[in-house]
Amino acid sequence: IREGTQVEERTFVYLKPNTIQRQLVGEVIRRFERRGLKIVGMKMLWMSKEQAVELYKEHIGKDFYEPLIKFVTSGPVVAMVLEGPHAIELVRHTIGNTDPLKASGGTIRGDYAISVRKNIVHASDSLESATREISLFFKAEELFDYPLLLEEHF
Ligand code: PPS
Repeated sequence: IREGTQVEERTFVYLKPNTIQRQLVGEVIRRFERRGLKIVGMKMLWMSKEQAVELYKEHIGKDFYEPLIKFVTSGPVVAMVLEGPHAIELVRHTIGNTDPLKASGGTIRGDYAISVRKNIVHASDSLESATREISLFFKAEELFDYPLLLEEHF
């Protein structure tokens, strides 16, 4: 990314229940931090059926929909909002393809996932979904505006 053309964005990410079960929380968050992304909000929560249905409403009716809702509500997750230049696209590249078979090594899914459902982490795929998903899980006062003093080193 060239200096001067940076667009600061916020994106919604959550670590799926199997990531907590596999004790990969630190591992995954570390990769976002190392990329240079700033954590502006973070919490552990157990998604309600209503929240899951709202989050995945574009997939209602698909064959994987019911098992997906069951899975994401099966245990606690870690939700966060990450900020940085082109954060939405940057995070999608960092996590890799939804299908772990297509995810390159070096991406989070490429390194830790074997199943399209239990694919470790979710991230917003557009500015519109980022705005919608952030507001579904975070109140304005749960997001923090603060300088990352190391930013100039990335
Ligand atoms: S699609 O069909 O292309 O719109 O799917 P996609 O946007 O890539 O991701 C859909 C989310 O559903 C989860 N999921 C599955 N997708 C495809 N096939 C199967 N069998 C499946 N099972 C579950 C997948 O993990 C995506 O979840 P998120 O949270 O968006 O990564």
